[in-house]
Amino acid sequence: MQVAASGRNEKIKPGTPVKDAKKTLLFSPITTKSVTAHNRIVVAPMCQYSAENGRMNHYHLAHYGSLALKGPGTVIIEATAVEARGRISPNDLGLWEEAQVEPLRQVIEMIVSQGSIPGIQLAHAGRKASMGSPFSLNGYSLVPEEQGGWPEDVVGPSDLPFNDQHAKVHALTLAEMQDIKQAWVDAAKRALRAGVKVMQIHGAHGYLLSNFVSGNTNLRTDDYGGSFENRIRYPLEVIQAVRDVWPQDYPFWVRISSSDVKDGQAMSRDDNGWDIYQSIEYAKELKKIGVDVIDCSTGGNLDGIQYPAGPCWQVPYAEAVKKEAGIATGAVGIITKGTEAEDILQQGKADYVCVAREFLRDSGFVLTAADQLGVAVKWPNQYERAYRERAPKL
Ligand SMILES: Cc1cc2nc3c(=O)[nH]c(=O)nc-3n(C[C@H](O)[C@H](O)[C@H](O)COP(=O)(O)O)c2cc1C
Repeated sequence: MQVAASGRNEKIKPGTPVKDAKKTLLFSPITTKSVTAHNRIVVAPMCQYSAENGRMNHYHLAHYGSLALKGPGTVIIEATAVEARGRISPNDLGLWEEAQVEPLRQVIEMIVSQGSIPGIQLAHAGRKASMGSPFSLNGYSLVPEEQGGWPEDVVGPSDLPFNDQHAKVHALTLAEMQDIKQAWVDAAKRALRAGVKVMQIHGAHGYLLSNFVSGNTNLRTDDYGGSFENRIRYPLEVIQAVRDVWPQDYPFWVRISSSDVKDGQAMSRDDNGWDIYQSIEYAKELKKIGVDVIDCSTGGNLDGIQYPAGPCWQVPYAEAVKKEAGIATGAVGIITKGTEAEDILQQGKADYVCVAREFLRDSGFVLTAADQLGVAVKWPNQYERAYRERAPKL
């Protein structure tokens, strides 16, 4: 497929400040390992529930293409299942078989052609699998086998369902855990062949790896449950195995839920469950095995939690992990303005700013953020006539 590059003619990528533009951190390049993004804005992973048999299609090309062409430094493709039963819904993306590689490669090619760094989030839904997408016939509810679900094959660290509306859970045996670890490795190799540069492991939101780390959802009595060291053991083994096959000079991210927020208080302690204090210790271990960036999300592991959500509400987690564990972080969560993003970076609270829903409202969020900060940035060549009096003199 031939893809017209929107910034290539002048060798300037959309979303790059033009000559003499105001200096900001948000619109400064950032290098992790051998990969340099031209700005620090990241499209956070967002499930689109639009795949069939785990494969990307025209929808994904249009969706990711529309985001990439307006200049984000990095685009992280949505949760992509390492095995079929590790999908949240029957319409999730997957990388458990070869036929899923080529459609992904085409989308990656599109992202790269527009100047963004392509990333992907590999995932296993654990006990939250076999649910319908929000816009499927019956909405977010358990999908029975006759409608393409797999409610009898939903797995987790323990046989503890998320709630009565979710599947019963089969507690994984040690042999099954090894098989799933291998599935992560195989999926990572496929992602690499498709051209992905940034690996992100989904270790958040109540999916398999976050079920393991939290004592609220991991009731195992073997070496993989109980103490903090035991609860993080399996996620560390999986992440290490994927890190081993991911090029050492390519960036490697882990998204964590920084806390289960069990009592609704962002920073409260939950020693036997999961809290920010354990997340900091976990981040230190992740750093030791070669993880470069921790993307600090929150929650999703327990039913019925009232989150203290508001503008930038999860940023203190990114700040705590960055400062206490000494590792780069991504901040995420209701960051909707360029000025907020710049403040986060200026105050040293995170290294990357990850934005999700605002990109769905405004696919040109990067250009909007630049406007809000008074930074003149390159627009896509094809869109420059719309730049009116703000058009950079190139
Ligand atoms: C439609 C949608 C799909 C999402 N899918 C994922 C996903 O695949 N993986 C993930 O880690 N988070 C997912 N999230 C969470 C976002 O990445 C992000 O953490 C969250 O929306 C908060 O950021 P925001 O306030 O900028 O939207 C999703 C969010 C939305 C709105």
